[in-house]
Parts: sequence; C-alpha cells; structure tokens
Amino acid sequence: MVDTTAAAPLLGIRPTSRASQKRAEAIAEELYLPCLMGSETELPDFELLVSNDRLALQPNRFASGPIGIDFTAGRAMHRLKFGGGKRQPLARAIGLASKSVKKNQALSRQNPGVDTHSQGELTVFDATAGFGKDTWVMASLGCRVIAAERCLWLHWMLNDALELARDDDLIADIARRIKAVHHDSRDLKCKDLPWSAADVVYLDPMYPPSQKSAAVKKEMQALHYLLAGQDERASHNSEKKSHTTEPQTDAENAALLQSALGFATQRVVVKRPARALPLVTDAVTPGNQFGNPATTQAAKPVEPDTSIKSVNTRYDIYIVKH
Ligand SMILES: C[S@@+](CC[C@H](N)C(=O)[O-])C[C@H]1O[C@@H](n2cnc3c(N)ncnc32)[C@H](O)[C@@H]1O
Repeated sequence: MVDTTAAAPLLGIRPTSRASQKRAEAIAEELYLPCLMGSETELPDFELLVSNDRLALQPNRFASGPIGIDFTAGRAMHRLKFGGGKRQPLARAIGLASKSVKKNQALSRQNPGVDTHSQGELTVFDATAGFGKDTWVMASLGCRVIAAERCLWLHWMLNDALELARDDDLIADIARRIKAVHHDSRDLKCKDLPWSAADVVYLDPMYPPSQKSAAVKKEMQALHYLLAGQDERASHNSEKKSHTTEPQTDAENAALLQSALGFATQRVVVKRPARALPLVTDAVTPGNQFGNPATTQAAKPVEPDTSIKSVNTRYDIYIVKH
C-alpha cells in the first residue's frame, strides 16, 4: 500500500473519466502508485492520465500539456510523409541503403529464431524504445521492429498507441510491423523474447542532460526528470516497480552494448549527441567484455567501426564480426 500521508509522489495515476477509473486503479496497483481522485491537496510532479484506450503523461512540474504517443497525427505523420526515406541518416545507419536485406534473407533460412517475419525485411531490435519515435521511422521504412522498453508505463503507452494505429487504415501496415515488449535489454538471452536474434540492434539510451535545455524536447525533459527520480520524493514508493528506472550509468551502457553485440547478426547502431564521446569506454566494470585489464591506463572510448552524422545527432555503427 502507498502511504498517502507522505510527501506528494513523483508520479500519480489519474483516470480521465469515470469510465476509465477501473483501468486507472489496476495500473496504480500494478505500479504501486497512488490513484488520484481529485481530493489531493498536493499534486505529484507527473500524472499518468488514463483513458480506456490511451495513456498520457501530464507534467505538473513543467508548464506543458499532456505528453502522449500518437502515430496518427502530428510529427509522426509528417516524418512519414517528408522524412527523407532511405536517404535519411537513421535509415543509412541501420543499413537500409546497403545489401542488408539480402543478408537477412539468408539469415532467415539459417536461423529459425528470426523467421517470424516475411523474408527480405530488415529486422531491428530497438532496445530502448522510449516514446517509439525511432521505432516508428524504422517500421515506416519497411523494417520489422521489436520495441523493448523497461519502464512499464512507457511500454503500456507505446502499446496503446500501436493498437490505435492498427485501426487506422493509412498506417495500419506500419503498426503491424512493430511489436512492443516490456523488457530490460541488458538481458537479450532471455527465452521470452519473440526473436532470438535480429539483423540490427538499435540503442538510444538517455543522453547526459543537455546544457541547452531549450533544445531538449519536452518529452525528453520529462523522461530525464522521471528517470533521475531516485530522490527522497520518489523513495516512499519503496516497492521497486519499473515506473522509474535507474539513471543510465557507464556500466549499464556497457551491458547494453555487450548484449546488443551478442543479439545482432549485422550491426549495432548507437544514437548519440553529435559531439558526445562513444557510449562506452574500456574502463573495467564487472562483466564488461570491453574491460581493459591495464587499470592504470585512462579509460578509452570503445570506438565504433564507422559513424553517420547529422546536425545534432551521430549514429555510431558497430559491425558484428561473429
Ligand atoms: C532516449 S529514450 C529513447 C527514445 C526513443 N529512441 C524514441 O525515439 O522515442 C531512452 C529510453 O530507453 C529506456 N531504457 C534505458 N535502458 C534500458 C534497458 N536496459 N532496457 C530497456 N529500455 C531501456 C529508457 O527507459 C528510456 O525510455
């Protein structure tokens, strides 16, 4: 049970109507968070607004309207129409412009574990799905994508948005190429995953907080705040459910890259800010295959095989050699 006498929580659950009250209560119970009924004296920093077919995040802390995922409108649709197709940096980074599709056909024959899709489609495991924007772009380019997210409410938000998109004739085929899973991608050997390998693993872990906060989109601002929410205000939700996740540490990034390299058959693509160092250094951390045993040396970045740059973003590409 949540102690309602404690300071306001970081995140609360609010039904948007009587009709969605049951669902809101079930979500609150699952996440060990309070269900808000309108009589609270102190509001949480964020509210998860629950209707029967979608979830949205209301950041009470920032002057902003609700943040949701809607593939049927706005920027997702705009990017679908005008996004630059296979010439855009993301498409080039995952290898859509190269001979990957042929390789994938061979792969499908060799490995029954990935044979859950039509032959010839590039398979991408998006290991850090977040709001699913990159997932959507890759699926709209014809990839078959598994979108893994470890934050449970964010996974539900993405799942709801995909279900709504599957009912929209214009984009249903794209939505059907995506499967959202609630999963921690540091473990990709897990038997419960729908595939046992993918052509490409895509990683977009949280960037370090930007100095130029105006440039940070409101979704990412909210995520940064929630993911770093391991402070006293959050700690009264002591039952550790994945409504927040730990801040992204070096060891965690190393574990993500390592498991990605074991799962991908062609390449791992890591999205980074244009001027950031590569995701991982060779500093010794337990179980890190990149570990440099000469601990007296300064940690060096694990350099990618190649990179594709755009104005604000760089895609680091690690070619799989097994
Ligand atoms: C920068 S956001 C991704 C944004 C996403 N590419 C998009 O287009 O919306 C990073 C996400 O990765 C998730 N994440 C971080 N580590 C993870 C892990 N080990 N397994 C699964 N998800 C993870 C975080 O919860 C967060 O939602």
